[in-house]
Formats: sequence, structure tokens, C-alpha cells
Amino acid sequence: MKKTFYITTPIYYPSGKFHIGSAYTTCLCDTLKRYKIQRGYDSYMLTGTDEHGLKIQQAAEKARKTPQQHVDDIARIAKDLWKKLGIQNDDFIRTTEPRHSRVVQAVFERLLRQDDIYLGEYSGSYCVECESYFTSTQLKEGNLCPDCGRPTQVVKEKTYFFRLSKYADRLLEFIDLHPDFITPETRKNEVVAFVKSGLNDLSVSRTAFDWGIQVPSDPKHVIYVWIDALTNYLTALGYGSEDPSLYEKYWVGGDEVVHVVGKDILRFHAVYWPMMLMALDVPIRFRLFAHGWYMMKDGKMSKSKGNVIYPEPLVERYGLDVFRYYIVRELPFGNDGIFTPEDFVSRVNTDLVNDLGNLLSRAVTMVNKYFGGTVRKTVHGHECRKFEIEMEELSTEVIRDYQNDMDQFKVPQALADISRLVAKTNKLIDETSPWALAKDPGLRPVLESVLYHLLEALRLTSILYIPVLIESHPVIFSALNVEPQFQTVDSLVFGKKTVYEVAKEPGHLFPRLDADKETAWIKSLMTGSPLKAEIPLKPEIVIDDFAKLDLRAGKVLSCAKHPNASKLLVMNIDTGDRVRQIVSGIAEIVAPEAMPNKTLIVVANLQPVKLRGVLSEGMILCGEKDGKPVLIELPSSLAAGTPIQ
Ligand code: ME8
Ligand code: MG
Repeated sequence: MKKTFYITTPIYYPSGKFHIGSAYTTCLCDTLKRYKIQRGYDSYMLTGTDEHGLKIQQAAEKARKTPQQHVDDIARIAKDLWKKLGIQNDDFIRTTEPRHSRVVQAVFERLLRQDDIYLGEYSGSYCVECESYFTSTQLKEGNLCPDCGRPTQVVKEKTYFFRLSKYADRLLEFIDLHPDFITPETRKNEVVAFVKSGLNDLSVSRTAFDWGIQVPSDPKHVIYVWIDALTNYLTALGYGSEDPSLYEKYWVGGDEVVHVVGKDILRFHAVYWPMMLMALDVPIRFRLFAHGWYMMKDGKMSKSKGNVIYPEPLVERYGLDVFRYYIVRELPFGNDGIFTPEDFVSRVNTDLVNDLGNLLSRAVTMVNKYFGGTVRKTVHGHECRKFEIEMEELSTEVIRDYQNDMDQFKVPQALADISRLVAKTNKLIDETSPWALAKDPGLRPVLESVLYHLLEALRLTSILYIPVLIESHPVIFSALNVEPQFQTVDSLVFGKKTVYEVAKEPGHLFPRLDADKETAWIKSLMTGSPLKAEIPLKPEIVIDDFAKLDLRAGKVLSCAKHPNASKLLVMNIDTGDRVRQIVSGIAEIVAPEAMPNKTLIVVANLQPVKLRGVLSEGMILCGEKDGKPVLIELPSSLAAGTPIQ
């Protein structure tokens, strides 16, 4: 039976478009998954979206959508992006799906029954961005979040607690007994220090907002978003459902389970999650790999700094493999790294264009020129040459190092291993000067052996690149005419393919990037128009779709602040047919007193929804500038109810 491999990305908060940092985790997981498939594993990869919590609710309000519309839109953006990046996820879980929320509720109730969760009162500080609680001693000066530096909110409410303290010793013991539970080592040390510093019980429910999974036995409470989110790794496998077969196969009976996470969410995965599993009597089968972050020269990527870079334009301009290669190659294993346009261009030109692309084209051209396209392996004898031995030994060493590195998630090192082989192969051309050998008919066997060694090294290189260069490895195989049986890891042995009949043309791998021009172009992405960079075109509609909208002029009669949401206003608007109550996220930009008598565009036939507890019967249309809404006013001569079409 095949060994199994279950790999997960974190599930993403649907708070906007995904930048290259978000894409990093997913590309890394996809690379590891493809590597394991190649090594014969039955592999399963999970990703998804983390759709509940105050942060999402607020983002939806800002976008003037219901939370459900908001998460629907962004789950679609995520799925499209992963498709564009060639991600082979086997499932995409959304925490708003019933298959997930049902099980989260059952888990919560079970922990409550077992007294692992109890009702108490919480008072402390909460960071909405990190969805995290902090004690006053943990806060930075000015009551700022110690993780992200944003202002925190004081929270005082009845809440359920999870008895973290009860499991602290068991967790420390587990970490001790499983030295490779947390990789890299430095991250493990952080976790151990955190647990040893003493754990307070964790607040696991909120009553101040309602966008979350309800506690069935106490529906005023919604379940803390991290309890909800972490459980996705099991619910996606059918844990707690009628069909737990994937759970049995990949988790309980699985051979390798890996959660890949960014360093910022290590604590949740290394402390809260294993403790939840202990309480549920679910075996802790996973290992954690905590990676670093892609940073920019001026710190974190952020829209307000205007330094965000998205994957799509890079993929469109340079091709999928260039992006995939760069993203998993550049960030050092487990540490942070800085994205710069200069490094991007030079990484691509050096590794892919000069080293790999050139090698392929030189090799194929010379085999055609000197041997009419066909070369054979020479049988080693006493005249076995130094370069032959060196190439063969280096290949064996590189394959071994590459596999060791990949087995430890060290993707950048593994790719550097391949580069060593490519460099050595290019050097073989320079050192033996095939064009000089070709002038002496007596040296034909040497020339043939040189060329054979180039091709064989390229074949091995191409096999090693399969998990990353998903579009280019077939180009190399077809230029060399490598049969499928010589494309497998079993054929990763120098000399296994003995005859080459190469294609007439090497085919095109990677065009050279003009350093100045492309650096400038990438820079323009970072500072360019946010509209162009951030808003993807929605799927096309026909005029009948548009005609379904009832857009009409509305006159604001009165307006007040929303009782529980600082960003919302509640308006009474005359829309000709009647007076509607409409809630809108415009409190930041206009005072309620300024609204009466304005004429606005109203979507009158929108299904009514409650926004933070207040009924909204329609919506008003706005623009957006610098992350804030901009009112769109109609000429006051238009009477209430005038159709807009
Ligand atoms: O944390 N470089 O979601 P998220 C590298 N929903 N990785 C980065 C990065 C960067 N610049 N920016 C973000 C969440 N990431 C939770 C997870 S799991 C049960 C719940 C990584 O959308 C980040 O470290 O904020 C995290 O691993 C992932 O992107 C998703 O971040
Ligand atoms: Mg985050």
C-alpha cells in the first residue's frame, strides 16, 4: 500500500485580494505535495477560507456587503487564484459550510459536557486584526497589540473558557517526546517558552457580534474564530460526519500529516490546536512547519503603504513557472526575506534563463550539429574520463541532497542543489569546448560522451524540477525526447537512459528579462493604480441580468448612527413606493445630520438583511477612494422613485 501524505495550508481570511505573501504558503504546499506524489505517496492537500469573526464582519461592512456576500466573493477570488497558480488542492473548505459548522458545534458541546469548556467572565483586550486576546502585561505601550501593533479593544463579557492550563504539562511532554513536532527548531523554542511562561484559560466565545458559529446550547454566543478555524483540518476529512473515511485514512492511519503555517499563527497551531485534540481524544498526528514572511524594503506589505505586490500580473507577464520558481526559491527556509524587483529579475535571469535555458538550447543545438540529433552512452572502460566520473558523482550527490532537503521542507536548499548540477553541466561545456573537439575526428568518442553527459544531466535536472516547474519540465523532456519511464524518480540514476534522439529545436523555456525595463515595470505594480491592480473583472453578464436590478432615486428623509457599529449609518429613504430603512457603511465619511435631502441611487429590490442587528431594506451605491466610501449623489431634480437605467 502507498504511504499517505496530508498537507494543509492555513485557511485564509477573506479580507481582500491575496498578495505574494499569501500565495507563498500555498505554492510551498503545492510544491511539497507534488514532490510527495513523485515519491509515490498518496497525497492529499487542503486549503480554504476562514470566513467568520469580527474582522470579516467589519470588512464586509466596509465593502457595504453582507458578510455572506463578502465571503462568497472572496472565496471565488481565492479559488480562481489557486487555479491560476496551478495549485493541486484536493479540497477547498469554507468555514461557513454546514459540513464544517455542524461539527464545530458538536465539538464545542462535547468539550462543554466534559467540562473542558466552562462559562465565566472575560475582561481584557482583544485585537480584531489578529483575532487574539491579550492581558494588560502583554500589550505594547498605548494598549497596542503586541503582534501587529494595532489598537486593541477592551472586552468585558460573559464568555466560555477552554481549560488550556489543564493541558500545559501534557503538551510540554508531547513536544519533548516528538522532537520534530515543530520545525524549525527556533520556532519550537519560542513555543516551549510561551507555554512555560504560564497559560491562562482561553476565551472561546463572543457575544458582542454575531458573524460566527452559534453555541447551540447558548445561542447568544458565537464560537471563537480560532476554535472554529483550526477544526477545519479535521472537518474537511469528514471527522464527526457520517463518512469519516478520509479522516481514518489520512489522519488516524496516515503516515505523514503536515500543517504549514506562517510564523504569526504558530502559537494557535502549536498550543491551542494540540490541546483541543487532547481534549477530544484525537491523536496528534501532525507536524508543524512554520515559515517566515515575504517583507518589503519598508516593512510589511500593506495597502496603505502602497507596497503590495500581487501574483497575477507577475504570472501574466513572466509565466507561471517563473513565478512559482521565484516564490519558493527566494525566501530562506523558515526565515523572512525581502521581495525586491531587482532580486526577482536577477533570480530569474540567473537560474532559469542563463543556467537552465541556455544549457538546454546549447545541448540540443550541438547534438543536432555534430551528431545529427543522436548520441549514445559510451561504455566505461579503462579510458573512462575524469569529467565522466565527476558528472556522475555530482549527480548522485545532488539527487541525494535534494531529496534530503525536500524531505525536511527545505525547498530553497533543494532548488539550490539542482542549480549545482546545472552549473556543473554548463561548466563541462566550457571546460571541454565541444566546438574544438569537433574539429578532430579522432576525438569523436570524447565529444559524444560530453554531449551524452549534458543530456543525461538535463534529464535528471528536469525530473528534480517537476514539483516546481510544472509547465517547463515537459518542454525539456520533449526537447530531449525522454520516454515516460525515464521521467520517474526511479530513473533518477545517471546513465539509465542510454540513447538520445533529440528534437530539431530546443524549444523555448524562459525569455531573458531586460533588467532595467522589468525592474521598472515591477516597481510600477507596487505604486501603480490600485484600481487596476486590485479589482478583477467580474464574470460577464447579459442585459437581462442587469435588468433584474431595481435601481431608483431615493431621497433621504432622516439619518442616525447605528446603535452598535461605529462605521454604519441608518437612513430612512423615500424610494417612491414607500419609505425604506437602509443601513450603510458611510459613517466614517459623512455625519448623519448632513444626509437628509440628499438624492442617492438605491438598490430597491435587494433582499432585506440585518446588519449588526438592524434591518436594512436595500442598499445605496457608493464609490471608493483610499479605502473609504465616496457618496454618489444624483441631481436633486430627480424625484424619489425615478428609475435609474
Ligand atoms: O492567519 N509572507 O489567515 P491569513 C508569507 N485565517 N506568508 C504570509 C505573508 C507574507 N507576507 N502574509 C501572510 C490566517 N502570510 C488565519 C489562519 S488556520 C486554521 C487560520 C501567511 O489570511 C500567514 O502567515 O491572515 C498565514 O500562514 C497565511 O498567509 C494566511 O494568513
Ligand atoms: Mg494574517
